[in-house]
Amino acid sequence: MSAYNKTNVHPSTFILIGIPGLEAAHIWISIPFCVVYLLALLGNCSLLFIIKTDPSLHEPMYLFLCMLAVADLVVCTTAVPKLLSLFWFHDGEIRFEACLTQVFLIHSCSTMESGFFLAMAFDRYVAICNPLRHSAILTHAVIGGMGLAIVLRGTALLSPHPFLLRWLPYCRTNIISHTYCEFMALIKIACAETRIRRAYSLIVAFLTGGLDFILIICSYVLILHTVFHLPSKDARSHCMILFK
Ligand SMILES: *[C@@H]1O[C@H](CO)[C@@H](O)[C@H](O)[C@H]1NC(C)=O
Repeated sequence: MSAYNKTNVHPSTFILIGIPGLEAAHIWISIPFCVVYLLALLGNCSLLFIIKTDPSLHEPMYLFLCMLAVADLVVCTTAVPKLLSLFWFHDGEIRFEACLTQVFLIHSCSTMESGFFLAMAFDRYVAICNPLRHSAILTHAVIGGMGLAIVLRGTALLSPHPFLLRWLPYCRTNIISHTYCEFMALIKIACAETRIRRAYSLIVAFLTGGLDFILIICSYVLILHTVFHLPSKDARSHCMILFK
């Protein structure tokens, strides 16, 4: 509670406590986190490097995969280094602004991830249900536009989140029972009416992740529909290859 200041509406720093109840095991829990983080860095960077250097991979699917890898790198680099520092050095203190930045980056980039999954599903849908026009529909300009739209959607819908938290009073405590700063974790410790803020965040979550999920399911239903209505067995197995 050191940085907690009664004259201020919000404390200048928050304290992340990691995984509540498992403080004693933090050092052990940090090992898989660290290994998986390093593997994610290595995997995503190799992916970016390979796709960049191999011109035969400059196809819609792989371009969306690159965008996904960048979003993945941002999300895990926003959360994990701070988490490791908390686990290793008991350094749970995080400045208010840094905390809000974490909220924004984690939520906006995970929203973008879901958009990139939807874009990939759309690519497969066109490749299978309209194969002859695939390259005419998914030109580089269209792919760039879709990527930009996904980034803008994530940024626009999630940028209110830090402001919704910024103007809340945190009069009870500055301790966050979580491993990183997250919207609902902060809402929980605020001492004010937060119903509208919660509703906004739930609506945004539905309009992004929820809607993307439904549309991805639809794309697979349409793909299966196409595959099972193909005239010959030959064409069907050909399609199953594309589907993979
Ligand atoms: C990229 O990073 C994410 C974590 O943010 C991880 O889940 C994914 O497996 C990584 N991709 C590769 C190819 O390693």
